[in-house]
Amino acid sequence: MTRPASPAPGDILVERLNAEGARAAMPALCDILSDCVEGGASLGFMTPFPPDAALPFWEGVAEAVEEDAVALIAARIGGEIVGTVQVGLKMPPNQPHRADIKKLLVHRSARGLGLARRVMDFAEQTALCHGKTVLVLDTATGEPAEAIYGRLGWIRVGVIPHYALMPDGRSCDTTFFYKHLGA
Ligand SMILES: CC(C)(COP(=O)(O)OP(=O)(O)OC[C@H]1O[C@@H](n2cnc3c(N)ncnc32)[C@H](O)[C@@H]1OP(=O)(O)O)[C@@H](O)C(=O)NCCC(=O)NCCS
Repeated sequence: MTRPASPAPGDILVERLNAEGARAAMPALCDILSDCVEGGASLGFMTPFPPDAALPFWEGVAEAVEEDAVALIAARIGGEIVGTVQVGLKMPPNQPHRADIKKLLVHRSARGLGLARRVMDFAEQTALCHGKTVLVLDTATGEPAEAIYGRLGWIRVGVIPHYALMPDGRSCDTTFFYKHLGA
């Protein structure tokens, strides 16, 4: 698919996918996750990580979407999905107001266009629609995403050293953030 190099705001569409939409988007979602992991992002997977290795993950997400446990958000440029984020909605009975933000991903070919900000805004609105007012996320310490969350108004809680591995096997610390909505 041809994608404009410098898309006009009207070329960008952010939407919530239902389970059917998630399954239809599977090739693009696999491509984005593979691209991010191969690009060095710590997302739960090790390299090499070709697109078809991402299929079981996204099939699980589609099931969670079907059960209303997850809201899956996608950003399209010229119709092609190039960015995504998830809102984990299923919480224990004592945390009905909390949601987790997971897997903020933008394909390397579409970075720096404001897509992360757009999908995160959409994720917050989606969370609010579900009565969620406390959002939590974590990200690899020292990676670009850590700086972005501060710009998006998230509060840094702290760092757990040696929490996970980078895709190439190096140890990585993890920073936790939260955001209160509607306060
Ligand atoms: C993190 C990521 C989602 C950012 O996507 P993006 O679409 O390029 O980000 P945006 O263009 O929307 O930028 C959002 C804000 O962060 C800033 N920003 C973008 N890249 C940045 C960087 N490398 N360092 C510091 N700030 C940065 C932008 O200036 C923008 O701020 P502004 O709106 O106040 O000007 C993308 O780099 C990515 O997918 N990385 C790999 C996966 C990953 O690490 N995800 C996070 C998992 S927790």
